[in-house]
Amino acid sequence: MLIAPSMLACDFSHMADEVKKIDAAGADLVHLDVMDGHFVPNLSFGPAVIAALRPHTKLPFDVHLMLSHPLAYIRTFAKSGADLITFHVECEDDPAAVIEEILACGCKPGLAVKPGTPVEALFPYADKLAMALVMTVEPGFGGQSFMADMMPKIRTLKEKFPTLTVEADGGIGPKTIDACREAGLDIAVAGSSVFNAEDTAQAIAVLK
Ligand code: DX5
Ligand code: ZN
Repeated sequence: MLIAPSMLACDFSHMADEVKKIDAAGADLVHLDVMDGHFVPNLSFGPAVIAALRPHTKLPFDVHLMLSHPLAYIRTFAKSGADLITFHVECEDDPAAVIEEILACGCKPGLAVKPGTPVEALFPYADKLAMALVMTVEPGFGGQSFMADMMPKIRTLKEKFPTLTVEADGGIGPKTIDACREAGLDIAVAGSSVFNAEDTAQAIAVLK
């Protein structure tokens, strides 16, 4: 399984150093949570911050857009250095149009489902997607409790679309990652369990 530490849990006063730290510690991707204060009741950082981090690592940037209107911002995030751009099926734009825009910008499209949304909502778009993201917490904040009852969504996706990469996000740590593995997960996002650890390399190694 690949590990994508979420920068939402890093020390924001030293973000470049934090990116270098997870790179040296064995992270596979850098997960970047973008929030608009509307789709979720929180604000984080935007494309200028992502662009500023881009020169500090060669790891792929896995950008998770928690935006009501992602379509207008896809090009900006592509230019900021995103590799994967994931948005929510619950957004107010047409998911098919957002996927087309991500592909047109040369990035890989990902589509996310909130805990309350049936995973079937992703099915119509699966053939165009590089990744499906199953939220294992309500999006908006780090440090929440893992929802084990989301595991059937991962199983369903892997059964129905065996070649589709599936990522889970929220509350993943040493105690919850086994359930993800058993469900067939490909990429685990981990914020607090990586950045709150004293030894980052050990924290990532334990998850792997
Ligand atoms: C929540 C974000 C997550 C979050 C994960 O809205 O999408 O990426 O930062 O943090 P932890 O691992 O602490 O739950
Ligand atoms: Zn995220």
